[in-house]
Amino acid sequence: MRSRVFFAYSREGPAVSELVRFDGVVKKFRTPRGGRQTALDGFSMTIPRGSLVGLLGPNGSGKTTALKVLLGLVRADQGTLRAFGHDLPRDQRFVARKMGAIIEGPAFTPSLTGHHNLRLLGELHGVKKRLVDEVLDLVGLAEAAHRSYSGYSLGMKQRLGVAAALLPSPELLVLDEPMNGLDPEAVRDMRELLVRLQREREMTVVVSSHILAEVELVCDRVTIVRHGRVICDDSVETLLARGPARTVLRGPEVSSARELLDAHGYSVIPAAGSELHVSTSGPSSEVLRVLAEHGVFPDEIRREKASLEDAYIEAVRKADEERAQIVDTNKLSTRGRPHAS
Ligand SMILES: Nc1ncnc2c1ncn2[C@@H]1O[C@H](COP(=O)(O)OP(=O)(O)OP(=O)(O)O)[C@@H](O)[C@H]1O
Ligand SMILES: [Mg+2]
Repeated sequence: MRSRVFFAYSREGPAVSELVRFDGVVKKFRTPRGGRQTALDGFSMTIPRGSLVGLLGPNGSGKTTALKVLLGLVRADQGTLRAFGHDLPRDQRFVARKMGAIIEGPAFTPSLTGHHNLRLLGELHGVKKRLVDEVLDLVGLAEAAHRSYSGYSLGMKQRLGVAAALLPSPELLVLDEPMNGLDPEAVRDMRELLVRLQREREMTVVVSSHILAEVELVCDRVTIVRHGRVICDDSVETLLARGPARTVLRGPEVSSARELLDAHGYSVIPAAGSELHVSTSGPSSEVLRVLAEHGVFPDEIRREKASLEDAYIEAVRKADEERAQIVDTNKLSTRGRPHAS
């Protein structure tokens, strides 16, 4: 039987297919030395209702900050943000009731059991004990519920975090790196849980992660952030179709092939078993030609469909190239400008 809890959420107002929209959001933090650190620099993304969105980007690119702005934990300096058809931060209190989140690791009392920790949190949300049991069951912690939190493994702690985020029966679940530090089995469990929440419970889920292979398996949308800006906000399908194909080279000469192709502007990823993965938008013969001209001949060459990792590396590389060009153009125009007298 379907759970009462997760379907009890209100659906007042017209159905909003676009649950969240960030538009040109800017956030600058003050640094201890009186400077400003730009975390979001015109950040724009959409979260469609019912989607499972992977938020990707290098360390420090602004993922956590964007999620904090959405949750009202950090206030943006500029730009607009709408969620559930409401403006934020103006209607933050209303929207907060529809969101559940874990950001930068959940905080629990170590000496209390998982169950007790959730009971305390549940009281804050005014939820019944039955719901606590239900979310513990959902995340696979029913058996360990009455063990003390301090004895939980990292995977169990992460799952308790997700259980806590589910307590308000959210429509939108926001998870900041829920797969961090998990072993492969726990990653698989988390992946299955996220898919179940989306498909069976009709939740919209946003999950930031550095594990691209997992994001490719579970997410239907991907948003890539670089230097506080979104450089890609698309369905995984579109991104992969548009992304580069991969030419795989194999053999003892892959290290010289790597240097050579790097120097020719290709995105190159070394892989296990003396393999080299080269992102190519053109035919593999172009790669072969470059190598042959320099007397490098791999033992084996094959072409594969691009993975999310290839598409990600390529998107970041392109964004960096464009950024470098803008910086160069700015330098030139500054130099060319006459000095004020
Ligand atoms: N409270 C803060 N005070 C000052 N600077 C901050 C603060 N929070 C974040 N930053 C800076 O803002 C930028 C973006 O940080 P953020 O934590 O959003 O990145 P991230 O993409 O989540 O990185 P990671 O993948 O490492 O979690 C970084 O340069 C970071 O140092
Ligand atoms: Mg982060």
